[in-house]
Amino acid sequence: MAEDYYNEVAVFGLGFVGLPLALCFTLANCRVVGVDVDAGLVQEINNGVTHHHEQYRGFPIQEILRQELARGSFKATTDPEEALSRARDIVVTVGLPVVEGEPDTRPLTDCLRTITTGLKPGDLVLVRSTLVPGMMRRLVKPLLEESGLTAGRDFYLGYAPERIAEGRAFEEFVTMPVIVSGVDEISRNEAASLLQIITRAETLPASSFEVAEAAKLVENISRDVSIALVNELSALTGAMGINTFEVVRLANSHKRVKLLQPGPGVGGYCLPNAFRYLAPVAREAGIDLQLMAAARRVNDTMPRRVADMVIKLLPVPPAAARVAVLGLAMKDFSSDSRESPALKVVAHLQEAGLAVRAFDPLVPDLYPFQVGSLEQALDGAHGMVVLARQQGFETKNIEVLTRFLDPSAPFVVDTKNVFGSMETVPAGLRIVSI
Ligand SMILES: NC(=O)c1ccc[n+]([C@@H]2O[C@H](COP(=O)([O-])OP(=O)(O)OC[C@H]3O[C@@H](n4cnc5c(N)ncnc54)[C@H](O)[C@@H]3O)[C@@H](O)[C@H]2O)c1
Repeated sequence: MAEDYYNEVAVFGLGFVGLPLALCFTLANCRVVGVDVDAGLVQEINNGVTHHHEQYRGFPIQEILRQELARGSFKATTDPEEALSRARDIVVTVGLPVVEGEPDTRPLTDCLRTITTGLKPGDLVLVRSTLVPGMMRRLVKPLLEESGLTAGRDFYLGYAPERIAEGRAFEEFVTMPVIVSGVDEISRNEAASLLQIITRAETLPASSFEVAEAAKLVENISRDVSIALVNELSALTGAMGINTFEVVRLANSHKRVKLLQPGPGVGGYCLPNAFRYLAPVAREAGIDLQLMAAARRVNDTMPRRVADMVIKLLPVPPAAARVAVLGLAMKDFSSDSRESPALKVVAHLQEAGLAVRAFDPLVPDLYPFQVGSLEQALDGAHGMVVLARQQGFETKNIEVLTRFLDPSAPFVVDTKNVFGSMETVPAGLRIVSI
């Protein structure tokens, strides 16, 4: 007997947000067709394969994907026609990549044009991508209305920026409060009703698209600025010969202080791009975003600073040196290396002439300098630099370090405080915290 599904949903974009979001809807007993322009990705997903590092209630995303494919509640396709003819709820997760410093609207506009080909009266289009403030009203709405249908009259149009963190997607779809806006109140309510199928958290109404768009960006920018604060501090604590992580830990014992952790820079799709999305709006308004721009600069200089720390500790000239990198992901416990500061550190080291071997158990094998184990990365290297945390990167690895590193003057540059707080360090091994 055919299953009774709650809603028929089309999800456009099957990336880090779209795929787990689609599966979250299927787990809530909706039937979902996922549409993506990347034919290779669609084929992989339909074969039950994904490199995402997500899990829900102990089940890895790979298992959830295979189960939902088998149940017939989910499939991926490059062909939007079937998705659009069946679904009344259309969710957009296609983002705005940044090209030469500016947001590129092409993937999103292509996606919206595709949707116009099958948009029906009574449909809901709910955009979840991070946008430049003003874009829902000035770009998304007019483009969708090229279908001949009017937003608010013939179809519902909502915007609810996605706020999940990679690695916690399923949990946060359910528990993170959702900001919801609409072209009018009815659209906002329709969008909230769709989201309430998957979330147990509050849906927070925003009075306009622009408020929701700006709220999303400032969330990301607040983290970028906070990280810049401790990254800048780390330059000073380094010069003073004191441990930044200890300073941060103690300062955070104050009830009203919540410093974030320093690191090798700020990467990924979300945090650095938030400023780049806001910058054109500020330019147009004649506003100089001094603090946010300064924070970006501080975070952008970190990979260079970390590479310089490594080069300074080398016992041999850079061209004769070999260094191991632990962690390539753009943040801790992630498989995503897009815009990863670790890649920038590697590039600086290679430019200086060093040979680099990097190990990250989660990042797919994408780079020629990647190796398959910590031991391979360390073997004969003059030192190691820790750039992202992963499960299993622990102080017990210290024994492996001393066994495999070149014994002349082995060192660890630790940007993640994996080894920095150890009370006893093996004789001869130098550990320098960021
Ligand atoms: N990754 C995160 O943790 C995260 C968190 C919150 C919000 N966001 C936002 O969510 C959006 C998506 O981010 P992501 O990380 O999933 O990006 P992604 O690059 O992983 O996924 C986007 C997908 O859209 C597909 N695509 C491109 N053009 C298309 C089209 N015309 N039709 C259908 N599919 C198309 C791409 O092939 C890709 O698979 C962005 O706006 C991002 O800023 C991301």
